[in-house]
Order: sequence, then structure tokens, then C-alpha cells
Amino acid sequence: MSSRIHHPGLRAKVMSAEEAAAFITPGMTVGMSGFTGSGYPKAVPMALAERIKSAHARGEDFRIDLHTGASTSVEMDGALAEADGVRLRTPFNTDPTMRAKINDGSVDYIDTHLSHLAQTVWEGFYGPMDAAVIEVSAIREDGTLVPSSSVGNNKSWLQLADKVILEVNSWQSEDLDGIHDVYYDTALPPHRKPVPVNHPSDRIGRTEFVVDLDKVVAVVETHGPDRNSPFKPADADSIAIAQHLVEFFEHEVKAGRYDEHLLPLQSGVGNVANAVMAELVKSRFHGLTAFTEVVQDGMLDALDSGTLAMASCTAFSLSTEVAERFNDNVLQYKDKLIIRTQEISNHPELVRRLGILAMNGMLEADLYGNVNSTHLMGTKMMNGLGGSGDFARNAFTSFFLTPSTAKGGDISCIVPMVSHVDHTEHDVHVVVTEQGLADLRGLSPKQRARTIIDTCAHPDYREQLRDYFDRAMRGSDGLHTPHLLGEALSWHQRFLETGTMRQG
Ligand code: COA
Repeated sequence: MSSRIHHPGLRAKVMSAEEAAAFITPGMTVGMSGFTGSGYPKAVPMALAERIKSAHARGEDFRIDLHTGASTSVEMDGALAEADGVRLRTPFNTDPTMRAKINDGSVDYIDTHLSHLAQTVWEGFYGPMDAAVIEVSAIREDGTLVPSSSVGNNKSWLQLADKVILEVNSWQSEDLDGIHDVYYDTALPPHRKPVPVNHPSDRIGRTEFVVDLDKVVAVVETHGPDRNSPFKPADADSIAIAQHLVEFFEHEVKAGRYDEHLLPLQSGVGNVANAVMAELVKSRFHGLTAFTEVVQDGMLDALDSGTLAMASCTAFSLSTEVAERFNDNVLQYKDKLIIRTQEISNHPELVRRLGILAMNGMLEADLYGNVNSTHLMGTKMMNGLGGSGDFARNAFTSFFLTPSTAKGGDISCIVPMVSHVDHTEHDVHVVVTEQGLADLRGLSPKQRARTIIDTCAHPDYREQLRDYFDRAMRGSDGLHTPHLLGEALSWHQRFLETGTMRQG
């Protein structure tokens, strides 16, 4: 089984997941690999969850603080949450069991910009990192590590952790070797230097991770697929959203703000974002680039069709079929894909300088263009803001996309006031629903409100929104951003009390 472990010293440290998990003790801060369901450790977290359950059965407290790149899977977040083994979780989660523990208050969660987490751990806000558990696809003869299907924060966790556990996953293609770009020149201020990426295709780092071999306490061999969850098939709403976007791109090309190759694309996570890429493939656009966080199915299809010439990312989030297709044909993508650390894939300075077109999903937007990407009815965490803020704040054009209603029409995704703000009105240039596209650039707050209501709101809620806005124009204390403060969040309260935002 050790054909992927070419370093004799590390080969000697091969052990079972159970033995490796014993290096993790109660109260530790642990950095694990994993980003949008790719490249997370497949065996040690489950073995750790079993140890935690046994400790709890003996009446002992056993919880860890857990940092990753982004979301993982049922084998990791799911298992550790199920075991009640997590005290603090950062920076992104999509696992339903972990989400339930976050929302019932038993797990503390810190929702943070993905480009920020490594830096804040380096700065010491989370205390020392006791251990790292990192999936790799191979260990080279010189002891350097070939990353697997995500890079995320692994470089930092390997540098920061006192103890390192490696999982070598032979399910990951060996051909991944050479596709990564791990940038090490990331000192903290005042020693930080400009990051020399001038085009999404620029390579600036190494193809491998470097680890202090003395810190490696265990090597575990695995053979397991990434999470690879299916996407919902594109429905009429997603297709309409995508069509509005493609039309807008044409408009911007005509206006001379984008050239024929547009500007580098960033496409967020979720079904709508995936559908947008699928629609772009059908358009006339060709030879585009992506400077993005995650490559989903739609983006791989765009690489296949030539719609995209190349993509820079930090991870994959693929369905099972597309993951298999990718794994069987990695060589074909080697000159079209670069997998970087998340500090670089989401680097705000690069996003601003390269002029990214940032397209992210959202839960709701308000009349003035503030966006909530994370909090269901203001208090419950959905997933986290992920990289949306890294991109939106600095984008050349920042787009936020959502169907105009949710839950069978009982929720309007355009509301008087968002119940939580992830992206302020200043970071939101364009709001798109299946109803239409609101270009908010250059508009005052009151103009934005009228445009969003007329263009994006669902017809079932349009009059209700107009009525609110008209009354706010008469009854608001100030008329710069008119609001009826006692009523601004009443739509959410009505939904919680009656199951619908519709007025009776
Ligand atoms: N209030 C309550 N629930 C809402 C809602 C709202 N305003 N809008 C959508 N939802 C629910 C949907 O009903 C659906 O629920 P279900 O899973 O029970 O069916 C769920 O949220 C997802 O909605 P969907 O329309 O399928 O959207 P999506 O898959 O495109 O995801 C986000 C949308 C906002 C959840 C997703 O884009 C996200 O997590 N964004 C934050 C992170 C991010 O932007 N990362 C990108 C950086 S690269």
C-alpha cells in the first residue's frame, strides 16, 4: 500500500487511523485540511470521533477547536459534531449535523473571510495550533508533500502545528503532482511583499508543501473519494438568472467596460452559481479566465468547452461523475488549472488589481443593496460567508444572485431590511434574480430601492415592498435611507410566526 510514500523515514511512521488519532488530546486546537468537500482527511477524524465518544462515555470532557480551509463532509464535520467533539469551529461549514450544533448553541462558530483565517491564526488570536491533520496525494522521496484536491490553509497549518498527521489518499490522482501553486512568501506586516500575480495563469510558488519532518508523528494511508455531492439540475430560475448575467456581460462589452474576454470570473458556491457557468458555456463567450475559490462542475465543463481558457482556484467541489471524469483525465487539465493556497486564491489585493467579476449566491438583499449570505432569519447560520467578502468588496463588478423567493414563495429574498449584513450596500454592484438584473452602480439609496423593487422582487411581493418604501418616504426620521425602524424586520418576524412573509 505504501507506493505513494517515497520517503523512508515517513514510511516508518505509517500506522492506523486509530493510533494516529491518539495524538489528539482534549482541548487541542487542530488544523485540518478540507475545502468545499475536497481534500479533507478521510480516516483520522472518524477515529477521533470514536475516541471522543468513548471519553464522553467515561464522563470525561473531550472537545477540540477545529480550523479548516472551508467545508468538509459527514466523515469529518459530521462525525465530530455527532460525537459532540467540537468546541469552536472556523471558518466555513455546510454539514447539516454541525450546522444543527452551531444553531442550538452547543458549538461556537466564527464566520470569517476565508482569506483572513490563516493570518489571524498566525497572529495568535486562536492560541497555538497543537496538531494538523492534512490529506496529501503522495509523499516524495525528499519528504515534500504533493497536495490533494484542495490546498486551502494546509501550508499554514503544516507550518504552525506542533504535531503533524498526514493522510496519504491513493484515491486522489497521482497526476495531480505539478498542478498546485503553493506560495510561501507570506510574511506578516511590516515584512509582507506584493504578490507577483499579474494574470490568473501566473505561477508564483512551489508545487508541493514543505514540512518539518520531525513534527510528523503519524502517516495514515487511505483510499476514499471526496464528498462529491450532486448539484440540483439547473431549474428555470437559475437559467433565467444566468441569462440576465450573460446579457449584462454583452452590455458591458458594448459599453467598453469589459473586453471580449470579459475580466477574470469568480463564481461562488451553490446551485445557482453552478447553473450560471452552465449558461455561460452556451453563450458566445470563449477563452475567458477564472480567478476563483472553487471549481464546481459548471466550471470544469467551461474548461472542456473552451469557454474558459484556464482557472485559478484553491479547491474543487464536484459531483461524483464529474470528479471521476476529472480524476481520469487530470493530465488534460494540467495547463488549464492552478490550485493555490486560499490566501492567494482569495487575495483582496489581487481581486482588486486583476479586476474580478465576482458572482456569489445570497439568501436575501434589502431595498438598499445590503446582502445577507449567511443567517437564516437573522439568527441561524446557513453555511458561512466563505470567500464572498474577499471577492465582493474588491471586485471590479460584484454580483449577488438569488431566486426572488424561497420556501415555495413564502420567503421574499428581497426584503425591507436584511436580517443580517455580510455585504454592505457599498460592496454590492448588481443584484440578480430570475425576475431581472438591477445595476446599482451610480445610484443613490432611494434610486437603488426603486430599481431593486421594480427589477428583482417577485411580483407577489412587489406591491408590499412599494407600500413599505412609500410609507418610509413619509414616515422615516431621515430621508437619505428611508426606513420604518419598527417595521423593517417585521417580514422576518411574520415568517417565524405564520410561516410566510406575505401580508394576510
Ligand atoms: N431565507 C431563508 N432560507 C433561504 C433564503 C432566505 N432568504 N434563500 C434561500 N434559502 C434556502 C433555500 O430554500 C435552500 O434551502 P434548502 O437547502 O432547505 O432547500 C437553501 O437556502 C439554499 O438555497 P438555494 O436557492 O438552493 O441556493 P444556493 O445553493 O445557490 O446557495 C447560499 C445559496 C447563499 C446558501 C450559498 O451561495 C452560500 O452559502 N453563500 C455564502 C458563501 C459564499 O458566497 N461563498 C462563495 C465564495 S467563493
